[in-house]
Amino acid sequence: MIDRGIILAGGHGTRLSPLTKVTNKQLLPLYDKPLIYYPLSVLMLAGIKKILIIVNPYEINSYKKLLGDGSRLGINITYKEQKKPEGLPQAFIIGKDFINKNGVALILGDNFFYGQGLTLRLKDSLKKNKGSTIFLYPVNNPSQYGVVELNNKNKIKKISEKPKKTKSNLAITGLYLFNHEVINFSQKLRPSKRNELEITDLIKIYKKKNSLKVEQIGRGGSWLDTGTTKDLFDASLFVSTIEERQGLKIACIEEIALRNKWIDKKSIIKSIKFYGNCDYTNYLKKLI
Ligand code: G1P
Repeated sequence: MIDRGIILAGGHGTRLSPLTKVTNKQLLPLYDKPLIYYPLSVLMLAGIKKILIIVNPYEINSYKKLLGDGSRLGINITYKEQKKPEGLPQAFIIGKDFINKNGVALILGDNFFYGQGLTLRLKDSLKKNKGSTIFLYPVNNPSQYGVVELNNKNKIKKISEKPKKTKSNLAITGLYLFNHEVINFSQKLRPSKRNELEITDLIKIYKKKNSLKVEQIGRGGSWLDTGTTKDLFDASLFVSTIEERQGLKIACIEEIALRNKWIDKKSIIKSIKFYGNCDYTNYLKKLI
């Protein structure tokens, strides 16, 4: 059973410059809340309470100011610095002590997931994971992602990182489950041509050992990119459309904590004081 998760918020987001010139990408708003709330909410919805946030040294204090030690949410948040963005598997080297002898979920700080049933499936995968589990999603532009080619029996044929040409439209999303061996395997990886440790190389090790499982987030689910200003704008529109329609917020971390019974109304009142007068606060007030 995997009960801990890492959020990698290290990315310096050059494709979003000048927006990210003075702030970390995951602190930018996706509609009405910081981007990091979305991946954090995915972990919380799956029942994960032990969370390590890995972030560049310049903004670690902003994260601490925003989320603290997690007690406001009834969870436990710790922080580690990633000095330079040298690839996703670095998270497991930096998070070595946090992982220790346990399995771990990794979610990228800028990934947006939404859809009925996603949480239940993730919970199920956390229970069943033996080696590694990855989550695939059909996209129009697979060349921008890690890609998996499946054969007609749904078995993995090929895994490649940002292939120029591919027959598959199945991207590897930024949500991964690994057993504790991930530390050892990550330490053995060598940088790719773009001078980064590649998560796809790590996944290939699990595939070789026959301990890689793929889960498909079907077309009814949503996995959105926030890589460019246009992506961020589109994702914001998506959130605003659903929230306006339902009168419910996506990724309200306080609401999730309350529904999970990790906190009570007193903690919500603390959050209301913390945020001050805003739309998000009005929503929290409605909850209690
Ligand atoms: C990274 C991974 C890639 C994965 C993507 C998901 O890409 O290398 O395999 O599909 O995250 O967001 P990058 O952020 O380096 O472009």
